[in-house]
Order: sequence, then C-alpha cells, then structure tokens
Amino acid sequence: MKVTIVGSGYVGLVTGACFSEVGINVVCVDIDSKKIDNLNKGIIPIYEPGLEEMLMRNMKKGRLSFTTNIAEAIKDSEVLFISVGTPPDEDGSADLKYVLAVARDCGKNMDDYLLVVTKSTVPVGTSEKVKNAIQEELNKRKVNIAFNVASNPEFLKEGAAIADFLKPDRIVIGLDSQRAEDLMKSLYKPFTLNGHPLIFMDIVSAEMTKYAANAMLATKISFINDIANLCEIVGADINLVRNGIGSDSRIGNKFIYPGIGYGGSCFPKDVQALIRTGSEYKYELRILKAVEDVNNDQKLVIFNKINKYFNGNLNDKTIAIWGLSFKPQTDDMREAPALKIVKKLLEAGAKVKVYDPVAMEEAKHHFGDSISYYDDQHETLIDADCLAILTEWPEFKFPNFKIVSKLLNSPAIFDGRNIYDKNEMREHGFDYFCIGVDT
Ligand code: NAD
Ligand code: UGA
Repeated sequence: MKVTIVGSGYVGLVTGACFSEVGINVVCVDIDSKKIDNLNKGIIPIYEPGLEEMLMRNMKKGRLSFTTNIAEAIKDSEVLFISVGTPPDEDGSADLKYVLAVARDCGKNMDDYLLVVTKSTVPVGTSEKVKNAIQEELNKRKVNIAFNVASNPEFLKEGAAIADFLKPDRIVIGLDSQRAEDLMKSLYKPFTLNGHPLIFMDIVSAEMTKYAANAMLATKISFINDIANLCEIVGADINLVRNGIGSDSRIGNKFIYPGIGYGGSCFPKDVQALIRTGSEYKYELRILKAVEDVNNDQKLVIFNKINKYFNGNLNDKTIAIWGLSFKPQTDDMREAPALKIVKKLLEAGAKVKVYDPVAMEEAKHHFGDSISYYDDQHETLIDADCLAILTEWPEFKFPNFKIVSKLLNSPAIFDGRNIYDKNEMREHGFDYFCIGVDT
C-alpha cells in the first residue's frame, strides 16, 4: 500500500516515519520547498528524539520520500493523510484554509479511488467540508471518481512522539464507509498487534474526541495549578497533595504536575477553538474559560515571585534562566511560558541570560539580541542575581549546587517545575521558591 502524507511538520514527519518503519511506502508532501529540499538532504526541521534516525533509515530503504508535488504523490496512493497546521484564527477558531487547500488539491489531482483522512486537529464538521471541497473540484473537472473521507485525530506528544505513535493508547478513527474501515484496519494492523486498540466511530464524534481529550488534559493542569496556588497560601505542599490524590486510580497520577502553565502548539489553541465551537452553537463552555484564565495567570507566577523577592525593583537585576522550550525533549517554543516570563522581565528592566539544551536557535528567533545566550548552563549564573528554571530538562535536576551557589550573586532559585526538594535547597543555603509549596 502507498500512502501520501500532506504537511511535513511534527505530525506529518512522525506519521511518515512510523508508517514507513513498518514497511509501508510513504510520500511526504509539503508546500515549503526549502523544507522538502532539506529533508531530501537529510536535514530535519525539528528536534524530536529518534525521528532523524528513523527518517534516514527509511529513506535509504526507498520506502520514504519527500516532494512538493502533490499531483505526483497522489498517483497510486489509496490513502492520503492531511496533517497541515490548523492555527487559531483571529477569533480563536481553527483556521481551516490549509486543510481545505489540500482537499481541493486532492479533487484536482486524483485519478482513482482515494481515502482522504484528516489527521490535523479540526473542529466538528470539517470532514464534511473536506468532502464537499473534493467533490466541487471533481465536478469542475466533470469526472466521477469514488472517494471517502475519514477522521483520524493524532494524540502524539512532542518529545515522545515516536513512542506515542508506535505504541498508542488507542487509535481513534471516524468514518462512514466499509471501504474506509477496511483500509484503515489494514494500514494500522502493525500498530495494533500488541493490544493497542482501534476505536471506530462516526466522523463527528472522532473530531470531537480530539478536542475533548486535549481540553480534559488542559483542565487537569489548570486544576492542579489552581490548587497549588491555594496550597501555598494555606501552607500545604502540592507535591504531597498531588501524590495523595494521584494514587486514587479514578484520578490517576498523570498530567497533574503543577508548573508555570501549559504551553505548546496544541493545548492553548485547542482549548480556544473548542470554546469557539461552543459559542458558534450558542453553548458556553464555562469550565474551559476558567481553564484558560488560570493558565494565563499561571504563566506569570514565577515572574511575580522574582519581582516580590527583589521588592518590585528588577531594574539592572540579572536573571539566569535554565530551559526555554515549552517542555523537555523539544526545541518547540510555541506558547512556551518562557516567552511571557522573559518579556515581563525585560519590561521590568532586568537583564536575562539563558541556556536551553536544544531551543537556543529557536529562542534567537523570538528574543533576538534582547537577551544573552550561553552554551553552558553554569555560564548563565556568572553575575546573575538569581536562577529561574522554566523547563524540567533532566540535565537541570542534579546540578552541583556548590558551584551554583558560588556563581550566583544572591542564593535565590525560582523553580517553575518543582524539580528540587525544598529541604535540600534549604540545606544548600538557597532561598528557594517553587510552585504550590510554602517555602
Ligand atoms: P506544523 O506547523 O509543524 O506543520 C504543518 C506543515 O504543513 C508545514 O510544514 C506547512 O508548510 C505544511 N503545509 C501547509 N499548507 C500546506 C499545503 N497546502 N500543502 C502541503 N503542505 C502544507 O504542524 P504540526 O505541529 O505538525 O500540526 C499539524 C496538525 O496536527 C495541527 O492541526 C495540530 O493541531 C495537530 N497536532 C499536532 C501535534 C503536535 O504535537 N505538534 C499533535 C497532535 C495533533
Ligand atoms: C499535547 C497532548 O498531550 C497530546 O496528546 C496531543 O496529541 C498534543 O497536545 C496535540 O494535540 O498536539 P504536547 O503539547 O506535545 O501534547 O505536550 P504535553 O506533554 O501534553 O505538554 C503540554 C504542556 O502541558 C507543556 O507545557 C507541559 O509543561 C504542561 N504540563 C503537562 C504540565 O504543566 N503539567 C503536567 O502534568 C503535564
């Protein structure tokens, strides 16, 4: 079976790599010719553990190729995945222009049966729009070619994308035809052999499942952050409370880690888009509005703590920052809390020195020369008045605290990810501040 994947970003590349890894012939398409040229030269546009090796291996085996030519790619393909971006529109709803452009390309170029599967995160009703766009183009060409549409939302997490794709908790597929079901069953067979289930449903329910899943996870995070803030006020320790509630299997211990708010290219935009879908249907999603509200405030918690520590005077203070990406194991800084925190620090007159294991190039696009960049985490501490941890990269977990203390002007650590123990920090002589713990 040959599969075409349109959109060679995080989702498209991971999907292409993983399908080709199990022996399927895959062509990845993108309109960005520089990206495709680079991919053909073996230059991968994103940092994702294990991705580069998998892409290279399958390109060499001849099972995976990259092109800007969708017409060529569609030839002989029975299945085409749409995995282009769905960024927020001005009003917060998902912008479908890229998805519908691909649908139109399908209608313009297909010569034989095609199953068009939407993998991008799209609001309910989009597959119907995809179907109509394809049909319109076929009508223009005055040809009668059979096709089906399906919805197959993607649940991978950046930083763990390959493992999530190869061993999914579940694969959700919305469809309305037997032919589509047979094709999807055979395509996903290699991934379901070890009990990872395929869940079939109608298309609208599949589209809704993706948003409901992300909204639920974002809700857990804002909930724990809200409770963390109260813990601090009443003198409780959120780390203990988290363990206490997480051991109840009905609650579960995942996605209840307090921090500086959720970022990334998905939770913020998907929560917004679902709120927007609600209002389109005159239904107010009150919980999600609160989730967004809490998250926006949470991104400033660390800044507020630093500002308070220096009595509201950050002018000429130097702040060292470890970690910029929205989470570890990625260079992605889209909606990263670091963006908001650094901006506030600069506005308050502070100087900012940063280190991130992989996001430094990405950071330069955002901050230019308004901050200084270091290749070594310790160098950020020289002449700095405090250290702030904004991403929980493993390499930050066990630093030499004697060196940290010696290099910093004042012994203050602001830990936005709760990676250190408050008692240990006290023993090392630090003024230590984290999330949800009265230190
Ligand atoms: P991305 O921005 O990394 O990649 C999208 C790619 O699509 C870009 O390379 C762009 O050039 C290309 N593109 C745009 N229009 C095109 C066209 N007409 N033809 C061909 N290529 C085109 O996006 P992403 O992070 O991979 O996300 C894609 C979708 O998947 C979004 O809807 C997102 O919400 C969803 N999603 C993302 C993740 C994630 O972790 N990033 C996880 C699950 C779902
Ligand atoms: C998220 C979902 O986890 C994926 O299932 C989904 O496919 C994806 O969005 C998407 O739709 O694109 P991702 O954004 O890559 O994946 O990363 P997460 O691991 O979910 O982290 C998101 C944010 O939440 C990060 O800023 C992280 O620091 C924060 N987070 C996560 C917390 O603050 N606490 C937690 O307990 C977990």
